[in-house]
This record gives sequence, C-alpha cells and structure tokens, in this order.
Amino acid sequence: MSADDLHKWGKTERGPRSVYFRTFGCQMNVHDSERMRGLLSRDGITAVDSPHDADIIIINTCSVREKPEEKTYSEIGRYRRLKEKKEGLVIGVTGCVAQQKGEEIVRRFPYVDLVLGTKNVGAISNIISEIVSGKKPIVKTEFHDNNCIEPFEPFPRDPDNYTAFVTVIQGCNNFCSYCIVPYVRGREMSRPSTDITDEIKSLIDTGIVEITLLGQNVNSYSDPKNGLRFPELIRKISKIDGIYRIRFVTSHPKDMSDDLISCFKEIETLSSHIHLPVQSGSNKIIKMMNRGYTVEDYIDKIERLRSVRSDLAVTTDIIVGFPGEDVSDFEGTLSVMEKVEFDNAFSFKYSERPGTAAARLEDDVSPNEKSRRLEVVQDLQKRLTMKSNLKNIDSIYDVLATGLSIKDPEEITGRSDQNKIVNFKGTESAIGSVVPVKIKKAFNNSLWGEVIQP
Ligand code: 5AD
Ligand code: SF4
Repeated sequence: MSADDLHKWGKTERGPRSVYFRTFGCQMNVHDSERMRGLLSRDGITAVDSPHDADIIIINTCSVREKPEEKTYSEIGRYRRLKEKKEGLVIGVTGCVAQQKGEEIVRRFPYVDLVLGTKNVGAISNIISEIVSGKKPIVKTEFHDNNCIEPFEPFPRDPDNYTAFVTVIQGCNNFCSYCIVPYVRGREMSRPSTDITDEIKSLIDTGIVEITLLGQNVNSYSDPKNGLRFPELIRKISKIDGIYRIRFVTSHPKDMSDDLISCFKEIETLSSHIHLPVQSGSNKIIKMMNRGYTVEDYIDKIERLRSVRSDLAVTTDIIVGFPGEDVSDFEGTLSVMEKVEFDNAFSFKYSERPGTAAARLEDDVSPNEKSRRLEVVQDLQKRLTMKSNLKNIDSIYDVLATGLSIKDPEEITGRSDQNKIVNFKGTESAIGSVVPVKIKKAFNNSLWGEVIQP
C-alpha cells in the first residue's frame, strides 16, 4: 500500500479514521506520541480521546521501573475484548517495552498487530499502511547507533498548543547503574543545530511561543557537524525572532558547566526553572549509582545557579532504597532536600531493572522500608513545595495562558516562568498570550492570582 492508499484508507464514509494513544512514562514518550499523532494526521487519521471510538490503538510504553512496565501488560490485555468486537481494529505497542521485548509481545498478546521500537517512531505511517493492506503482525525494533539523529520529517503539531517540545538529543551514555534508558534508547545522538533552529522557526510561524528542548541528557549536547555545545545552542535559539520562553529537560549535574550557568545570567528568555536530578544525598550511594558528582558538587552548582538567577525554581528526582542504602544514607537524602529546598521532586522506590549494573547488587532494602522512606520523602517535599509556593504570594509573574482551568471554566490556567501552574479569572481570549498575574493564594500543586492591568 502506498502513502496515497493510506490516505484513502484514512477517509471513510462515516468520517476520518481515528487513533487513540495511551502514553506511559516520561516527556520523551509524550513527545513520541505527539510525533506519531502528527505524522498520522497527514494521512487523514485523527486523534480521539476514547479507545472505543478508535480504528487504531497505540500503547506507548515505559520500562524505567517495574510498576509502569507491569501496567503496560495489563493495559495491552484490556484491549483484547475490543479487538474481538471490532473487525479491523489495529493494536500497536511502541516505546521502551516494545524496544526491549520485541517479538515476545506478539507471542504473549497474539492480537497485537505492530510492535515499534524507540528508533522507529518515524516509520508509523508506513507500518500502518502495511498492516491495513494485510501484513501482520509487524515487529520493527532496529537500532542503528551512529552519532547523529536521522533527519526528522516535520510533523503537524496540535493547533491548540502554544508550547512545543523539540528534540535536541536522544539516548544516554551515562549508564547510571540503576537505569535501563541507555539499553532501550541507545547511545547519545545529537541533532544538527541547524535542524533544531529550522524546526523552532517553523513552530514559531504556527503560533508556538514557548519551546522545551528535550533529551535524556540535554546538557551533553554536541552538534554532530561542528561540535557546538548546549550553551551555544541556547544562545542561538534565544536569537530567533518571536521566541518568548526557552525551557530544557533533563540535565545531568555533572554536565552543568560554568558556561551553562552563565546562560541563566545572560538570557532573559531562559526559563527560571531547572530540573536537576540529585537521586540521593549520600556520596556512597551516588558513587554506587555511577552518577559522577558528590552532594557537595551538587549543592555548589545550585548555589552558583541561584547566584545568577535568584528566583530559579529547582526540581529534582530522588530514588529511595537503592541497594546498600542504610538509614544514615537516607538521612543524607533528607538533608540535601532541606538544604536545597527543592520546589518540587519526583520520588521513586528503587526498582531493579534486568541487565543494569545495579541488578547485580543485592536489592537489600525491604519493600516495607522502601515504602516508609518514600512516604517520608514525599511528606517532606510537600512541606518544601508549600513553603516555596507561599513565598510567591504578592509577587507578579508573567504567565503563559494555555487553556481553560479544568476545575472552573471561568478561570484560565497557565505556567509561570518557574514552571508553576497558575490559575486566574479571565476569558478565553487570554489563551495563547502572556499575562501578568499577582499571586494571591498558594496551594500544594498550584498558585492562584489576579491579572494586573498594565
Ligand atoms: N528505579 C527507580 N527509579 C528509577 N529511575 C530511573 N531508573 C530507576 C530505577 N531503576 C528514576 C530516576 C530518573 C527518573 C526518570 O526515574 O530518578 O531520574
Ligand atoms: Fe538514566 Fe542516568 Fe541517563 Fe538519566 S542520565 S537516562 S538516569 S542513565
């Protein structure tokens, strides 16, 4: 079947064919779903919110911890009945579990039509066209590691968005001992900076004002053509006309260079937020995790960042119960949290991942103790987040309004420069613009304020 034929298949008498995405895991996966949705929309296939309305169901999976991986399997299982009821329904599994398990998924769930690995997302249209012309199942998990990302086909974004992710680097070379990412997303591959700036310019032409540079480890970016590093890339992007705000995610503390720190001083459009995973507050554990810094290095970098950008919000990732983590190591984690006063933290119980270096260590912290430590971390973080949110009261922030508030349709929701959710009274006409808001109330997960008239 050719691209034209897929286009014809995409249109039926009852309207366009439709695709439903169920996405697990990180922003990388969210972005991959967005890319597949955009590529399929060129074939006339539209996205829907319910699997019951869909002709294609894509389950985009995550294997970073055991729990989301298990959820993936029960999710795939859930669609068997639907497949039996609806003739021609296409079911696909993509993402990290697809990459890792490949054929095994089709053996376990024979009604799955396609399994697409992390480096094959760009082939979605071709694969769907092969499936609807009768070839199935298709398992495509080839993994070519070279030092450059293959050119991206531009894809249509959601027209309701004012903010967009742009991939700058894929994969990871760090091999943190607990992490499966280098095995399922491969070695680091940067994208040529001209491809990145071209994509950003075209997004701005469609009304996007905020860009989030995306990668597993953005600050080890290096242009494969000329060696240009991440701080220079940000400088280049900041000069593009029409860009209001630049964000990036995720950074590694060991690659937080002086040059990148100075970007926060020089570049006003660089958002006052950094996500910098500390993982643990014990030097013994950080070393066993193969992270390449000490707690002291980490705190020093945060202090230097805050000295050039006083209102910088810092968020982090924390793992509790890594093998060998004793009570004093755990107290080190609580102490680094108190010292840095993180604005927010994602915290996880250590989960052994097959094939990683840490899987060779004895998983010796009991499940109950992991749960207890996680609860302590989350309680402490709740207090620190509230403290940080309370500090924002009476300050005025520029908020990029992105939509109607879910709870109250007379309110608009958006994000401040510090990446905090801010709700305020307003009308739909504010959506897509930047609004000065004076913060009046602080909650656990958001702020509330009033628009300041200029
Ligand atoms: N167990 C628990 N948490 C993990 N993470 C990555 N691998 C594991 C694992 N095996 C967490 C880290 C990382 C975040 C994306 O997920 O904190 O920063
Ligand atoms: Fe995993 Fe470490 Fe790479 Fe992050 S930096 S993706 S934790 S190996």
